[in-house]
Amino acid sequence: MPDAPYVIDQLISAKSIAARVESLAREIAAEFAGTDKLIVVGLLRGSFVFIADLVRELDLPVEVDFLEASSYEDAMESSREVRILKDLRGKIEGRDVLVVEDIVDTGHTLHHVTRYLATRKPARLRTIALLDKPSRREVDFRADWIGFSIPDAFVVGYGIDYAQRNRNLPYIGQVRFPGAPEA
Ligand code: IMP
Ligand code: MG
Repeated sequence: MPDAPYVIDQLISAKSIAARVESLAREIAAEFAGTDKLIVVGLLRGSFVFIADLVRELDLPVEVDFLEASSYEDAMESSREVRILKDLRGKIEGRDVLVVEDIVDTGHTLHHVTRYLATRKPARLRTIALLDKPSRREVDFRADWIGFSIPDAFVVGYGIDYAQRNRNLPYIGQVRFPGAPEA
């Protein structure tokens, strides 16, 4: 499937993303006003472009850290399991933390990651996702901030990949297979 030729239709322009990131950064700065430091945690790898743009718009003292989680379908179970592949470098106990994700899809990843980080007793733990696909949710999870709510489509660009490709597109596009029957 990843080798089948596909086309990418633009869904959200680079300009729209930039405008939205600016306004999200204002809301986050207001929420965390007065913090001594905000630890911004990017979930690898899909959030790397978003976090880079977001922190540059954030008028707060920030520290950046990364976490890598992997979700996979367990053949024997219907529920998804999420593993931590790379943990944070720094401590978050008593700190203000913002977790940055590319997409909330089934919700398993952020649901698991926030519960995992909460055991370290941060002062405040908030989440932001650039994209949300509410129709795909399997567990009850809501990010504190969402950039754009989108329908159930497979998207790429702005850090988000399809089989590791297309992360460098400056906009968000929808993957389409010409000739394939409409879903
Ligand atoms: P979930 O919320 O645990 O189902 O997983 C969210 C993760 O699935 C995201 O961090 C993405 O890595 C991946 N994902 C979900 N939808 C897409 C998509 O449309 N394109 C690329 N990756 C996606
Ligand atoms: Mg991901």
